[in-house]
Amino acid sequence: MEAAAGVEQLRLKFPGAPALTFRDLSFEVKRGEKVLLLGPSGCGKSTLLQVLSGLIPRAVDVPVTAERIVVPERWAFVFQDPDTQFCMPFVDEELAFVLENLLVPREEMKQRMGVLLRQVGLELEELHTPIAALSQGMKQRLAIASALALEPDVLFVDEPTALLDPEGTKQVWETIRKAGEGKTVIIVEHKIEEIVGYIDRVVLFGKSGEITADGPAADLFANYGHRLAEDGIWYPGVWDDYIRSDRYAPWTAEPAAASAGPLIRLDRFEVWRGKKQKQYVESAEVYAGEWIAVTGPNGAGKSTLLLGLMGLLQTAGGYELNGRPAEQTGGLSAEIAFVFQNPEFQFVTNSVYDEVAFSLRQEKRPEAEVEAKTSALLADFDLTQRKDNHPFQLSLGQKRRLSVASAIVKEQRILVLDEPTFGQDAKNTFALLERLEAWRRQGTAIVMVTHDPDIVCRFATRIWEVRDGRLEHDLRGPRQLAEPAAADELPEKEPEFVQRGGSR
Ligand SMILES: Nc1ncnc2c1ncn2[C@@H]1O[C@H](COP(=O)(O)OP(=O)(O)OP(=O)(O)O)[C@@H](O)[C@H]1O
Ligand SMILES: [Mg+2]
Repeated sequence: MEAAAGVEQLRLKFPGAPALTFRDLSFEVKRGEKVLLLGPSGCGKSTLLQVLSGLIPRAVDVPVTAERIVVPERWAFVFQDPDTQFCMPFVDEELAFVLENLLVPREEMKQRMGVLLRQVGLELEELHTPIAALSQGMKQRLAIASALALEPDVLFVDEPTALLDPEGTKQVWETIRKAGEGKTVIIVEHKIEEIVGYIDRVVLFGKSGEITADGPAADLFANYGHRLAEDGIWYPGVWDDYIRSDRYAPWTAEPAAASAGPLIRLDRFEVWRGKKQKQYVESAEVYAGEWIAVTGPNGAGKSTLLLGLMGLLQTAGGYELNGRPAEQTGGLSAEIAFVFQNPEFQFVTNSVYDEVAFSLRQEKRPEAEVEAKTSALLADFDLTQRKDNHPFQLSLGQKRRLSVASAIVKEQRILVLDEPTFGQDAKNTFALLERLEAWRRQGTAIVMVTHDPDIVCRFATRIWEVRDGRLEHDLRGPRQLAEPAAADELPEKEPEFVQRGGSR
């Protein structure tokens, strides 16, 4: 048999789902091929990888029927979140755990570990290093080393860089490129800039899990550009098209608000984790109508800063909210909407609808208002069809969108978001950005961690650059600069800018 993996006439329906995820899908991958599965969020890409690896139905009980399913004998998986892939606390123990399962003799282990770590470019002075001390990019490379230990013929890769900074992203794709030499590699990924040069073939899926195009990468991007655009999928040049479209509103300075004090003022603000100070802000302010992009490498302390603003970690120093010390306000979450980095940490109900309605119902808003707001947001975030599902039954992109929708439904004047666009197709990314921009124009302040340079360039009015546990630079965003200047030439603060703002 020539195929490395494949399905013939696959039918799959999740219990309780309104429709089949796959209806008579036939698809195969040849040995040695590097294939990218591309399609809108929720179309079934992750599910298909699980079928091809046999995880469905062996480990995940979902009813499937097929004429034939070819599952490779030796395969390995690399998932999006490296933290969910480890069983042991130390690098050497983690690899030993995998090698022991493969019955590698003890005396060979050290040497094998060395080879594996070299293959992924993770050369540590000390093998007995805590995994928690590695950056996200290093962790993902360790996860790839563990996958390689299995000596797979087929490597399944599902959005391995969704949580990584641009540098980590580059390194991980470089690692996969090397690790995949001579192997079959099947990749699911939305953001494709880094990999277009690597893949042989792209398989394009439509919204209902059907294949709409299949061919060499170059042909596909040349001939199916319109379809990619229509389906809202990332393609090379998508940002240029978006910026030229009438959906992208050019920057206009907002009329100055009469009473424009800062919504947030930080003064020698510290955030602690346990006994260690992990974030320090000498001084910073957030005004109505600002969109602050918080940037910086993995591990710099961006999420720590946000958790500190939400009072979810111990803090010290000055923190004023609407002109009053933050601890004197009724509760930070009444004033600030917060989107966690990990969507699953946020879910508190058993259905998508209830999740969005939750905080409105808590405030005892009239049910008609709850219904109207919830339905509108579900439609905006392309979740209407899934409204009766349990939040954990969603695709990755759907989970992320649900976590954003349920956090912002109350329309607080300050939105604090930790990478709200990861794992999204182009359509849903732009829809979210447009919704945030509309609120910003009405005076909402947005503080948002993002690794996406396009978002920083096109939407941020200000940039907070975080490095080594400090807010190092506070800069105007490129978007409002008529004459683009080098970022570090900019003044720290610009007087007329702080006058801006507005009220809803
Ligand atoms: N356990 C489940 N029960 C019911 N429906 C599910 C379950 N798991 C996934 N689904 C649904 O099946 C569809 C396909 O999900 P899948 O995770 O494969 O999508 P995807 O293409 O990988 O999306 P994304 O790009 O957002 O990751 C989604 O609409 C999802 O809501
Ligand atoms: Mg997926």
